[in-house]
Amino acid sequence: MGHRQHLVRSILALREQGGLDLGDGTVLWPEPVLVGRREHAVRALAEQHRLEHWSTDLDAVLADPSVAIYFDAQVTSAREESIKKAIAAGKHVYTEKPTATGLAGALELARLAQEKGIKHGVVQDKIFLPGLLKLKRLVDGGFFGRVLSVRGEFGYWVFEGDWQPAQRPSWNYRAEDGGGIVVDMFPHWEYVLHELFGRVTSVQALATTHVPQRWDEQGKPYDATADDAAYGIFELEGGVVAQINSSWAVRVNRDELVEFQVDGTEGSAVAGLRKCRVQHRSTTPKPVWNPDLPTPEAFRAQWQEIPDNQDFANGFKAQWELFLRHVYADAPYHWDLLAGARGVQLAELGLKSSAEGRRIEVPEVTL
Ligand SMILES: NC(=O)c1ccc[n+]([C@@H]2O[C@H](COP(=O)([O-])OP(=O)(O)OC[C@H]3O[C@@H](n4cnc5c(N)ncnc54)[C@H](O)[C@@H]3O)[C@@H](O)[C@H]2O)c1
Repeated sequence: MGHRQHLVRSILALREQGGLDLGDGTVLWPEPVLVGRREHAVRALAEQHRLEHWSTDLDAVLADPSVAIYFDAQVTSAREESIKKAIAAGKHVYTEKPTATGLAGALELARLAQEKGIKHGVVQDKIFLPGLLKLKRLVDGGFFGRVLSVRGEFGYWVFEGDWQPAQRPSWNYRAEDGGGIVVDMFPHWEYVLHELFGRVTSVQALATTHVPQRWDEQGKPYDATADDAAYGIFELEGGVVAQINSSWAVRVNRDELVEFQVDGTEGSAVAGLRKCRVQHRSTTPKPVWNPDLPTPEAFRAQWQEIPDNQDFANGFKAQWELFLRHVYADAPYHWDLLAGARGVQLAELGLKSSAEGRRIEVPEVTL
């Protein structure tokens, strides 16, 4: 994520477009300082992109007054401590999700940031995807009437790593290293549901490990101690019911790797990463249940594609631009560490619900 989405597709893309025009005659030119643990890897990355500044010493970079923003895309388990250091050094903070491995830690970061008076943001990229922006357009335009339910299907087959290398890092499958699909994906579902349909007020989840043994980057077998699938039901403020399946042990039989179907009294939509299709009540077929006869209708063909009607930028870059405008032009920005803590809270309560086998209320988080 740090390399491809944030460095190449966001920061370097901003430089390629000539910087970020703030609209008041100022153009921002982001100058990254790459920081990592392994000298050879960081140096190679800097050379590959012809970047002048890199380091293996985070403390030294944080002590540099010319550095304004700390961005974190490390493994989740290393995040909290580094963000604390960055806040203490008075840097603005932008970070990948989840912001911490537990709610208490996530709230502490939000509190520390508020006390220090720095600006802070958390990556919430899914709402900047073309498919979800189209879905938001439908919500804002009143297309659905009263929204009844949301059903999400996320996932794909992540190879075990024995006969074909896994396409995700192995730490994701070890709980002790901050892995697990609930910790990874529930923070996304929190802000997607919250921003589009209403705050999550309860969660009921069943998290499981379908594939108990995997092979790591060195080809060594290890026990998968973290959940690789989670089946969740969420109640939302306003009465919408959402149900989302998340799995790294499912083969894709959909058009996109994530899809949300929204059903409302006036119409329905199915949104993915890029596309969004709708069916209005006036074009809704009236199927009759009869297993003795083949279905005469091609149901999927009856939906209508939502046109783009605008240019969609990379979602990560779009959110970077908003964050930079927030830091340098005081533009409003609400995807902050408190919003990030809500995502961590939903993951924590989702795991608790699964462990205890019950539905759990999700109280509103405050500082
Ligand atoms: N927003 C999204 O859609 C999205 C998608 C995937 C991952 N993520 C988040 O991004 C973060 C990174 O995930 P990734 O898939 O890029 O993982 P990754 O393993 O590819 O990258 C993690 C980076 O952290 C470094 N690292 C590993 N162990 C470390 C340690 N102990 N201390 C410091 N650095 C360490 C690794 O060298 C690597 O550069 C995670 O927090 C994850 O939750 C977000």
